[in-house]
Amino acid sequence: MSKPRILSGMRPTGLMHLGHLVGAVENWVQLQQDYECFYMVADWHALMSEYQNDTASIKKYAYDNVTDWISAGLDPGRSVIFLQSDVPEHLELHMILSTITPLGWLERCPTYKEQQQELKDKDLSTYAFLGYPLLQAADILLYKAQAVPVGEDQLPHLELTREIARRLNYLFALKKNKQVLLPEPEAKLTRFPRLLGLDKRKMSKSYDNAINLSDSSDEISKKVNLMFTDPSRIKKTDPGHPAECNVYGYYKVFAIDKTDKLAEDCHNARMGCTDCKKSLADLLIEITKPFRQKRKNIEQDPEYIKKTLREGAQKARQIASQTIKEIKEAIWG
Ligand code: TRP
Ligand code: SF4
Repeated sequence: MSKPRILSGMRPTGLMHLGHLVGAVENWVQLQQDYECFYMVADWHALMSEYQNDTASIKKYAYDNVTDWISAGLDPGRSVIFLQSDVPEHLELHMILSTITPLGWLERCPTYKEQQQELKDKDLSTYAFLGYPLLQAADILLYKAQAVPVGEDQLPHLELTREIARRLNYLFALKKNKQVLLPEPEAKLTRFPRLLGLDKRKMSKSYDNAINLSDSSDEISKKVNLMFTDPSRIKKTDPGHPAECNVYGYYKVFAIDKTDKLAEDCHNARMGCTDCKKSLADLLIEITKPFRQKRKNIEQDPEYIKKTLREGAQKARQIASQTIKEIKEAIWG
């Protein structure tokens, strides 16, 4: 029995940070055991929001993100790791899907308006950006993925993907008494701990509030020192309120076994914030140590990531080109 297939992806718009690790990549690493995994750098998707900025940095971040993925445990021997733009079939399927997608489905997609609101500094009233979820549907359907590990924010895109698969199957296959072309993928929702940025806003490169996987021990210490704590605790003798404290939130994600005692010590003012942060920094440095080591090894061989992506694209294209062939036969045949 072959393993069920999954596909997931990430946009290379910045360095990979701890939020990406606990929110996605740790899970991707686990899934390698039971699934045939495809992990993709969505560089065309990145271009849709970054086209007015330094577009060359998308490529730099793409290579850097893949280095971090592999440092964190993705195994190119078991998973297909590739760049979206190395597999032109994504664009071909995107075009085919665009012929059958009613405009209203895209206009109604909640992420469309949300992103425009959130990224006000960018002009996202483009033709491509409206079709963002459609390219994502192509990413998934091209590999006939049975499941897609995503966060809750991506559920509307998964629903759209399923609807488009259904419509394509109906128009190009069922209606003409041909075999179903594409399976409808399931969302594979895992409830992840939510990690906020140093300033308690969403962790994001654009807020400059992230701890990156590639940060040195010194950088991690400095950043943890800057973290917001319980705002009502001014002096060390004031009782703290762990629930209000972002540092405590990090303990909940990375050291749940330490939280009971910490909450008590904080509340009774037995633990000071400086010491509390120092221990957190040590903990984060320890957790990320193997990643830094692995990263150093990878960086010894400047060709390694390129070669990995070249091989990944080759494997991806084998499957992608077969799917395109089947769909074209159904359309023109
Ligand atoms: N839209 C996804 C995100 O921002 C990235 C993405 C692109 C993706 N293509 C995908 C995720 C295919 C899952 C499957 O997180
Ligand atoms: Fe936060 Fe720790 Fe200070 Fe309590 S002691 S307020 S948990 S940093």
